[in-house]
Amino acid sequence: MQKTQINVSGPSITQKEIDYVADAVKNAWYSNANIYHEKFETAFANYIGVEYAMALPSCTSAIHLALVAAGVGAGDEVIIPDITWIASAAPISYVGATPVFVDIEPDSWCISAEAFKAAITPRTKAVIPVNLYGNIPEMEDILKVAKEYGIFVLEDAAESIGSEYKGRKSGSLGDVGVFSFHGSKTMTTGEGGMLVTDNKEIYEKSLALRDHGRSQCGKMFWNDTVAFKYKMSSMQAALGLAQLERIDELIEKKRQIFVWYQKYLGDFKGFQLNSEAAYIKNTYWMVTVILDSSISFQKEEIIRLLQEKGINTRPFFYPLSSLPAYKHLADINTASEKNVVAYKLSPYGINLPCGMDMTEEKVKYVSKELINEFGFRD
Ligand SMILES: Cc1ncc(COP(=O)(O)O)c(C=O)c1O
Repeated sequence: MQKTQINVSGPSITQKEIDYVADAVKNAWYSNANIYHEKFETAFANYIGVEYAMALPSCTSAIHLALVAAGVGAGDEVIIPDITWIASAAPISYVGATPVFVDIEPDSWCISAEAFKAAITPRTKAVIPVNLYGNIPEMEDILKVAKEYGIFVLEDAAESIGSEYKGRKSGSLGDVGVFSFHGSKTMTTGEGGMLVTDNKEIYEKSLALRDHGRSQCGKMFWNDTVAFKYKMSSMQAALGLAQLERIDELIEKKRQIFVWYQKYLGDFKGFQLNSEAAYIKNTYWMVTVILDSSISFQKEEIIRLLQEKGINTRPFFYPLSSLPAYKHLADINTASEKNVVAYKLSPYGINLPCGMDMTEEKVKYVSKELINEFGFRD
């Protein structure tokens, strides 16, 4: 195979998406300005199995809105896994609260329910379980602890559209679920996000907060609070609707890509791929491999070596507690002693190419190069 660039991620865009967006550009104005938002939100809520869905400019804004609507603010603590993209955690700082980073499980790479429980203090107001790379943590255990202590559960399902836990869709498991439609995601609106919930009060608060706190009293340009402007455009909503109508096909492709990697890497020791517990359906947003720590390379070097072969990969997230962004937090220097799994796995993990344009031939090539460099049998 030639050394052409194999991309780590990217969407599937068909004539359907082009037609819907073109229609929105032409027709979604005047009294029809919201038609695509309404269709997209209704279809999304039905798909996830929740009462309410709100289309937003990003998942980051969805997390921000949910925290404000839940009353999280200065002096509060929010528990979050140490391994995730900073977008899961940044809104905690926006509202003046403090993130508390806890360890992940060695197989699911998601928040450990035990670590969550151990980190609870009288200041804990919320927990943000993150469905990393399409997987889902032990939500029953997490929800049990959250209920016992009266903690708000904000399920970060940014990376897990269509994944399921005991037959329930990701995003429907906590008090609020949030999704990302960034261009790298399984379904995309270019940039975009969605907040979903069954909680009418949170939904109505979020509706007002996302539109500059406009009053529901009927008076125009009358604002009850100083709030935010978080609205998706109708062109993005049209793109989202078209993608959602193809969601089963998109998820099937992601699962197919994972099966190909399993086929070509599965026999080799030294490669830990994403897991899927018996009661979970993982939609594998990012096929990820953790290499055996006995290899002499860490992820930055592995990424560089693969890039030389035209293979574009990404690093497994760094523990958030190790980032300069959080060096001001109290006790941050002891996080590596507590979050042992996060610090053990992170140096050796990479996301493999798994965009919608992957073929079995490309997976075979990537796998062959990985095996040549790093693979070993028993
Ligand atoms: C786990 C997680 N949470 C939140 C986000 C934020 O999504 P967005 O870029 O749409 O704000 C992302 C985006 O990559 C993510 O991976």
